[in-house]
Amino acid sequence: MEEYYWDNKIEYLRKTRDAYYNDDYLEFLVKSVWRLNQPISIIDYGCGYGYLGLKLLPLLPKGTKYTGIDKGNQLISEARAVFGTLPYETEFIVGDITEAELECKYDVALCHAFLMHMTDPILVLKKMVDSVVDQGRIICFEANWISAMANTYLAGVDQSKITDLGILQKLYEDDAKRNGKDGNIGIKLPRYFSQLGLKDIGCRVSDKVNFLDSNVDQSLKQKMCTSFCEDGFGADPGEQDIFVRRLIDRGMSFEDAQRQYQTEKLLASLFNIQSDLVSAATMKITFGTVCRGQAKG
Ligand SMILES: C[S@@+](CC[C@H](N)C(=O)[O-])C[C@H]1O[C@@H](n2cnc3c(N)ncnc32)[C@H](O)[C@@H]1O
Repeated sequence: MEEYYWDNKIEYLRKTRDAYYNDDYLEFLVKSVWRLNQPISIIDYGCGYGYLGLKLLPLLPKGTKYTGIDKGNQLISEARAVFGTLPYETEFIVGDITEAELECKYDVALCHAFLMHMTDPILVLKKMVDSVVDQGRIICFEANWISAMANTYLAGVDQSKITDLGILQKLYEDDAKRNGKDGNIGIKLPRYFSQLGLKDIGCRVSDKVNFLDSNVDQSLKQKMCTSFCEDGFGADPGEQDIFVRRLIDRGMSFEDAQRQYQTEKLLASLFNIQSDLVSAATMKITFGTVCRGQAKG
């Protein structure tokens, strides 16, 4: 049987999420922004091993039920194992969201780094909307890659030498037009929410700014450094021909692809655990309320 890509990415998911949010910020969102102060039922689309559940359940009132759905068998087995030892009411479903029919019964439908991987994200967003009760909430934590790239500073080198924002901006735009998957969907979601009729729409940005400080002990920095590396930051671009060909296949010109290779090669040669790096993921967190209205009659 063919291996499912995300089932082999559990370690990646574990090692990268810490770079996005401080726990106090998530607490602020839950308690002060969304005011989730009654037990609720939540569904997490593309839950992976349950990252969001692990973060949010300790902040939510006792009696809250968390359901996670994901296509990955191994991810769901891992989620069941992780939550099996915790005092929360949970249910995990293996399923493909594009095919699954979910009952309209949840108070909150949420997702983390999920819509960005969908070829038809608006269709999936509609499913999320259909799965919550009237006055239920949709909350999407999604990426905005170009913003993350702009929010990265490596000491000792001009940013334009290691991050060519123009080339990347066009690459991401072309990718989204070609296959629907949009690494910048985070910044577009407030508008999509409005188009789907959601009300009280708000959008926040993730708070965490990571600082890899050359003046602190290496062991303290190892976790953060690993997290950057797992996300591909400073990775060696490998064989030039293969790298360039892949970018051309994604719509880039030969000249830009060569330049991008040189840029990534330089970054790989400069970035290591001794670097001074400041970087923020700037995930966009969009939320809105489903208002079905009363049928007139
Ligand atoms: C980037 S991962 C995010 C996982 C988790 N939300 C997190 O942030 O740790 C994307 C997840 O979406 C899931 N996924 C992708 N396409 C799916 C589909 N059609 N149906 C269900 N899950 C899907 C993958 O299996 C993967 O776990």
